[in-house]
Amino acid sequence: MSAAPVKAPESSTTGVFSKGRAAIAARTLRTDRWWVPPLVTVLGLGTFVIYATIRSFARAAYWVNDYHYLTPFYSPCLSASCVAGSSHLGAPIGHLPMWIPLGFLVLPFLLLFRLTCYYYRKAYYRAVWFSPPACAVAEPHAKYTGETKLPLIIQNAHRYFFFVAAIIAVINTYDAAISFHAKGGGFGIGLGTLIITANALLLWAYTLSCHSCRHIAGGRLKNFSKHPVRYWFWTKVSALNTRHMLLAWTTLGTLVLTDFYIMLVSSGTITDPRLIG
Ligand code: FES
Repeated sequence: MSAAPVKAPESSTTGVFSKGRAAIAARTLRTDRWWVPPLVTVLGLGTFVIYATIRSFARAAYWVNDYHYLTPFYSPCLSASCVAGSSHLGAPIGHLPMWIPLGFLVLPFLLLFRLTCYYYRKAYYRAVWFSPPACAVAEPHAKYTGETKLPLIIQNAHRYFFFVAAIIAVINTYDAAISFHAKGGGFGIGLGTLIITANALLLWAYTLSCHSCRHIAGGRLKNFSKHPVRYWFWTKVSALNTRHMLLAWTTLGTLVLTDFYIMLVSSGTITDPRLIG
């Protein structure tokens, strides 16, 4: 990818073209492969979005009745259109047309939680929005308004999406609990149980490592000494928070892995190796 020269917008007063900044015609003076991280980010996020969209609309192979495995993309399944046994919380919603995903109640919030995440913002502002694409690489936009105007002002709602994500994590935990199920009933553990449980734990780690969660835990306090419980929680959340980027990518991978594994078992492509039951 070449660093093509850019023409400074005549009216620009912000960013790299603002008055007082060195007038450099080249888009960047960097000679390293600065474009690799944004490219990898686009490929990773794009792959996840395409996969999740296809699977969400597929309405097939999302539930394994023998072992009570439910893919997170369909949880909770609240419609009468859900396959028998997969509606853990009942089916208060009637039949849905094919163009509405069965997980429609949860998918928008999961998407909004991730899209407004501080880490993902950094990733796609660079990789997709080119604002800027990398350090010391000029962005193509004429001016910078940050997150003060629509649509980016919506990013400020991230703290509210966190609460919804926490509820979804509870539901995923319930899904993991009921996956300890043997064929014919009773207690059982299979490879699917381990995958679903690991995914739920990692989703908790990602959710709790959220910057909004850290603020909820320790923000607006004048001193920690009078709030030992919140201080303890804040230190734990802060430790997780240092790995937020890693957890963001890891959970994208475990979501796909969990769904893909359940799809293979549900469709009869593979059988679930059983440890117990
Ligand atoms: Fe990433 Fe909240 S900052 S989930």
